Amino acid sequence: MLAELDKLAESCDAGTKVVVIGHLNDVLLYRELMKRGVSEYLIAPIGAMQFIEALSGLYNNPDTDPVGNIIAFIGAKGGVGSSTICHNAAWAISELLKSNVVVADLDLAFGTTGLDFNQDPVQGIAEALQSPERLDEVLLDRLLTKCSERLSIFAAPVVLDRDYDISAESCDIVLDIVRQNVPFVAVDLPHTWTPWVKRVLLQADEIVVTAVPDLANLRNAKNLIDLLKQTRTNDGPPHLVLNMAKTPKRPEISVKDFSAALDITPIQVIDFDSETFGLAANNGQMIEEYSSKAKAAQQFRELALALAHRKEPKEDKKTSAFAPILEKLKFKR
Ligand SMILES: Nc1ncnc2c1ncn2[C@@H]1O[C@H](COP(=O)(O)OP(=O)(O)O)[C@@H](O)[C@H]1O
Ligand SMILES: [Mg+2]
Repeated sequence: MLAELDKLAESCDAGTKVVVIGHLNDVLLYRELMKRGVSEYLIAPIGAMQFIEALSGLYNNPDTDPVGNIIAFIGAKGGVGSSTICHNAAWAISELLKSNVVVADLDLAFGTTGLDFNQDPVQGIAEALQSPERLDEVLLDRLLTKCSERLSIFAAPVVLDRDYDISAESCDIVLDIVRQNVPFVAVDLPHTWTPWVKRVLLQADEIVVTAVPDLANLRNAKNLIDLLKQTRTNDGPPHLVLNMAKTPKRPEISVKDFSAALDITPIQVIDFDSETFGLAANNGQMIEEYSSKAKAAQQFRELALALAHRKEPKEDKKTSAFAPILEKLKFKR
């Protein structure tokens, strides 16, 4: 085993962590492994939870570089507003939490990220996916387009004269490199079902499924959410956003029935608002920028905080001069 580990070391770089699972419970072996830079030695047999715990322990260590969160957005059908929600939520995370965010547009042929952010972006993501082994911090920086102080987009080429053969492995590698450089990666997935789409969903930290309250959306959302719940047994369930609710003159399934059928309470129900959404899209603005008073703007702020597991940053309220003393008294009681 030690000889094989030495061989493995040749293809590891400085940040690679190696966990060894073995049968021998022996201090000398343990020391030998640690000397070779192995991060953890686990004695078999181990359960899935124990394994996950060991891995997350490695990354919880304050000495290790932090890894960002991947939030994947997918629509239960095409055109339901999944990209709009992805971009607005990503933007709100970057503004509210003052965190760096990258929007990765994986809708390579038809993605709207460039349009939505009013940018003529470097169309970098296809290049990265084609030769993921070349991607490093420097190249990543060149392939991203900066939209605001803290939000960058990894834009799709949106041309049709080439084929896009994405492999699940290259998606993994590229997203991993992005998440090593920013705290949040919002992945805008197209409404398709391929091995790489499935892989991105299974690997994501959070998933947002957007659906419009009609029958086809209900069926598709149910299939998607059931599959994700079954396969991601150690993660929380995906989030459901019901979009374009109360579209005039359109019969729709009630929020209550939709939620009951999926056994999920929607994290947001966003009303159909063609004026606000249409004008914001045409201007290449986020809803918040176009009209911070719009109901949807507040909803995107709430969605962003929920996805980032944060609470609303408290505004500096004018407090009385006695407030600190009153606080102290409260604790005493
Ligand atoms: N709540 C809404 N009300 C009105 N129009 C919306 C709403 N949400 C999204 N849209 C519009 O719907 C269209 C499709 O949105 P898009 O985000 O591209 O969908 P998807 O990514 O699911 O295909 C866009 O023109 C967008 O502005
Ligand atoms: Mg889209």
